[in-house]
Amino acid sequence: MSRKMALRRLCAVAGVSLGVFTITTAAAHAEQPLSDAPAQVYEARNRDTLQTHLRTSESAANASTPNAPSYSLYTTSILQDLHDGLETMQSSYFSIWLGKYTTAIDWTAAVMATHVSATLASLSRSLTYTMPGTFDKSKNLDVEAQMVENEINKYFGQIATYYFGEDHFAIRMQAYDDILWVVLGWLESIQFIEGHSAEHYASGSQKEAAVPEWHARQFIPAFAHRARIFYEIAEKGWDWRLCGGGMTWNPRLLPYKNAITNELFISASIGMYLHFPGDANCAPFLSQYDDIKDKKNRKPSDKLLRAQERGEQCDENTQTESSYDPVYLANAINGYDWLKNSGMKNKQGLYVDGFHIAGYRTNHSKTECDERNEMVYTYNQGVILSGLRGLWEASGKQTYLEDGHELIRNVIRATGWTDGQIFAAASTHPEKPDQIPESHRDILTSWAGLGAGGILAEACDPSGSCNQNGQTFKGIFFHHLTTFCKPLPAVPVRLGRTYAASRETRILHARSCKEYTKWVVHNAKAALRTTNKEGRFGSWWGANGHAGQILRVRRVANAMDYQNRPDEYSARFEEEAHTSDDAGGAEDEDERLAGHDMTGDHDERDDTASRDWNDRGRGRTVETQGSGVAVLRAMLEFERLGQSDDGGFVP
Ligand SMILES: *[C@@H]1O[C@H](CO)[C@@H](O)[C@H](O)[C@H]1NC(C)=O
Ligand SMILES: *[C@@H]1O[C@H](CO)[C@@H](O)[C@H](O)[C@H]1NC(C)=O
Repeated sequence: MSRKMALRRLCAVAGVSLGVFTITTAAAHAEQPLSDAPAQVYEARNRDTLQTHLRTSESAANASTPNAPSYSLYTTSILQDLHDGLETMQSSYFSIWLGKYTTAIDWTAAVMATHVSATLASLSRSLTYTMPGTFDKSKNLDVEAQMVENEINKYFGQIATYYFGEDHFAIRMQAYDDILWVVLGWLESIQFIEGHSAEHYASGSQKEAAVPEWHARQFIPAFAHRARIFYEIAEKGWDWRLCGGGMTWNPRLLPYKNAITNELFISASIGMYLHFPGDANCAPFLSQYDDIKDKKNRKPSDKLLRAQERGEQCDENTQTESSYDPVYLANAINGYDWLKNSGMKNKQGLYVDGFHIAGYRTNHSKTECDERNEMVYTYNQGVILSGLRGLWEASGKQTYLEDGHELIRNVIRATGWTDGQIFAAASTHPEKPDQIPESHRDILTSWAGLGAGGILAEACDPSGSCNQNGQTFKGIFFHHLTTFCKPLPAVPVRLGRTYAASRETRILHARSCKEYTKWVVHNAKAALRTTNKEGRFGSWWGANGHAGQILRVRRVANAMDYQNRPDEYSARFEEEAHTSDDAGGAEDEDERLAGHDMTGDHDERDDTASRDWNDRGRGRTVETQGSGVAVLRAMLEFERLGQSDDGGFVP
């Protein structure tokens, strides 16, 4: 992308008025005296930097496109909110000396780091400078570029720290979905590094001009190694015997073939195909069971630890495949074929949680997935989207994009969103979605399956009973939605391996995605309204519209909330526990229990006058913050679609 295009993209958000964007964390922060704490001074100063820099860009844009309307303050204000959300997340919840999100559990930490990488990629694309620059102190742009670059480096430093703080030995012993979040996280980070390098540092012919490469590139082999190791562990979760294929959730529990593990496998497989740069590091690793002497405590053996510490590099002959390995592509295609035909969608066109095999506990010869858990979560509608986008790019088959758009529309409809013709009826989906029967609408009379009033919500949100799992899901949905709606390439990224879109396809995809923008913005603004004085996001974005109402979403028949209700989880899975000493609950059992302590019932007795609905239950956490960051980033990227010409779409 040319510098000029970047400027224009940043500065010409068409058709959006400034006035409606009222409640922001920036406003909350601004009221605090700057002298209070050094951290706040730094944060505030930094916000100024971003703003000044963007203003500079604006005047440049005015010069190059004199007649373009300038709405850049709107974009600037989204960028500020996004940056504030990120800064709050990292300063409140990330501990550098440990390299950890101290209150997260392993899988949610992996997702948080993913949000950081993705957000940095968005910030990087918003800014226009080349490093190292001439650094002329009299030139504003140079000074500002250095400051913004410094900010990006600060957060990248935290990602690098997290690489070492991530408890990767523990995660190897966890369920396959836990393992796959790690793969997605490091692939995201690699993409950010590649993107930031390409936009702001030497590339190609420029290399001769003695411009150095960005220092973060030195981490790519390490990140790639971890992605590969975790992918190869997870790959073992695929099984053809039960349910005719698909990934198993957790090898230590009764068989459960669920949406999330399969969606993750599809997205991770296609991510490895498209973005894995190869791995020259053959330091040994062992799978979940291999060579674990102390199975009960699930500790890696000394041999494994020593091997890992040596970190041996292999010679060139034993290097693993580089990118575009057809095995990854085949895994993604198989995975989606199975998922699509598994019957895992309900009448609203949403993925339910998964399948059990009835009677398996007493008869291990049974293989048919015939017991469906009707529970619907937001993240089960999300992760597959980036997989579908990647499958299109690797195969050129348009059905993958069509499936993605259909799912997105089903989700938007299931939030009760009625604005816009396309959501009135699904033309691609002749079967009418079920109306929510009267008897099922107890609290939120408008509860539509995945939210109310056009705002995405988890079923546990209104009662404040989400645990760490549930608090993470909406952010995951928006992260993958954003990936799905990236403009399609007009030329193949890699000739012979990936596909480009025809002009017609690019226009169609871009036009469809632009139709979602209003809904995305509606959700992001709702999320912003839940921030408290410290700028921390709440979990239930729809809270403000429902003050005074209580607040429990009626459960659909046969819907078991394993993710937020430890009682249901253990009832279903732990019968097996005493027949095998290797079985056990999830890695975060304690957290699940803790998260369930407070329910909506408890709060009904509270004084409602000064209540913040989002202080109930687990309250504000790193997970709710990460979700807030993800929906703000979605707003930024969707607003950009309106000015992007990558889609070849000129209104
Ligand atoms: C750019 O142009 C817009 C609209 O003409 C104007 O409102 C704005 O102040 C200009 N910005 C700068 C920095 O000159
Ligand atoms: C176990 O399941 C298999 C496959 O459904 C069936 O053929 C067999 O009769 C079952 N055995 C018992 C003891 O129910």
